[in-house]
Amino acid sequence: MKALVLSGGAGTRLRPFSYSMPKQLIPVAGKPVLVHAVENLRALGITEIGIVVGGHAAEIAAALGDGSRFGVRVSYIRQDVPHGLADCVRLARDFLADDDFVMYLGDNVLPGGLAELAEGFLARRPAAHVAVKKVGDPSSFGVVQVDGEGRAVRLWEKPAHPVGDLAIMGVYFFTPAVHEAVAAIRPSARGELEITDAIQQLVSAGHEVRVHEHHGQWWDTGKLEDLLECNRALLDILPPPVAGAAAGAVDAHSELVGPVILGPGARIVRSRIVGPAVIGGGSEVVDSALGPYTVIGEECRLSGAGVEDSIVLDRARIRQVRGIRQSVIGRAALVISSPRGGHRLAVGDHTTVEVAAA
Ligand code: TTP
Repeated sequence: MKALVLSGGAGTRLRPFSYSMPKQLIPVAGKPVLVHAVENLRALGITEIGIVVGGHAAEIAAALGDGSRFGVRVSYIRQDVPHGLADCVRLARDFLADDDFVMYLGDNVLPGGLAELAEGFLARRPAAHVAVKKVGDPSSFGVVQVDGEGRAVRLWEKPAHPVGDLAIMGVYFFTPAVHEAVAAIRPSARGELEITDAIQQLVSAGHEVRVHEHHGQWWDTGKLEDLLECNRALLDILPPPVAGAAAGAVDAHSELVGPVILGPGARIVRSRIVGPAVIGGGSEVVDSALGPYTVIGEECRLSGAGVEDSIVLDRARIRQVRGIRQSVIGRAALVISSPRGGHRLAVGDHTTVEVAAA
């Protein structure tokens, strides 16, 4: 079996980050979302992975390379315009050849892995085997109606009035029968080739499409709140740090409470860090208080900072600002207190900033 990982897309819900980086490379629990995906696929025994990339192709290629670092072989498939999930299958036709494959949305995280889903597919090998999750309001997802035996009856993409509560997640297993279905569909009202339409096409053509309800954890990290929630959950199950931080990493005036992972060359001075937390290599935390669920990237500089439940990306600097929580700070961003009082903001396009009410 091959894997097709979708890592293009517009990422509008994760602006401004998605302007300058692929959202699939935002780290959760200190590791890019996409690396969690590749590791899950490798754990299934899949070694042939096609990655669909869009405008941020170079950065994704720099992160994954040829895949050998992860024990897989990566092929890159270029999608110039994000024309939809089924368009990705169309573009990957040569790579996929006539093999079965799992299609995995590159911004999805399933900490428990894919083994149970894969077993369900392999047991019967239906034309499509779709992972779903019960959610309160599935109207922002693909939605599927199922008969009493786990077969899909009907599918809709982001329906205004969903039937049932089964949201389609981001993991689909297919036999090559899907290619004919993809070739038969037309773009939807939003101009995309929808995978739900392709799967509906399989159903209409009489193929077996099975639905598997996933009971494990699952995040679609395409939105900030979900990204932070996923970060918290993965930090909770992070393996404990190897005992004995490098000599000199933590000075005598600092305190680390609970699991705190320090990258190589990280320095903690006169600070208190409450885990679970990750401090990236080469970062300096001075006179600061970091609360649980904080992930600091590499080469960051924090002084007089108070941060919790947040993701701070590489090379960011925070000086004399406390009370930062549930925040994501971009690469090489600067957050400092204003000597003039008040707020002085240079806010990127489509950015949300929340400051304490006056
Ligand atoms: P989505 O999150 O559904 O779409 P998006 O990335 O365009 O984000 P937004 O809705 O915020 O604008 O995409 C799911 C995954 O599939 C994600 O990893 C991006 C990828 N994708 C592609 O590779 N090509 C595409 O044409 C689309 C629509 C998505």
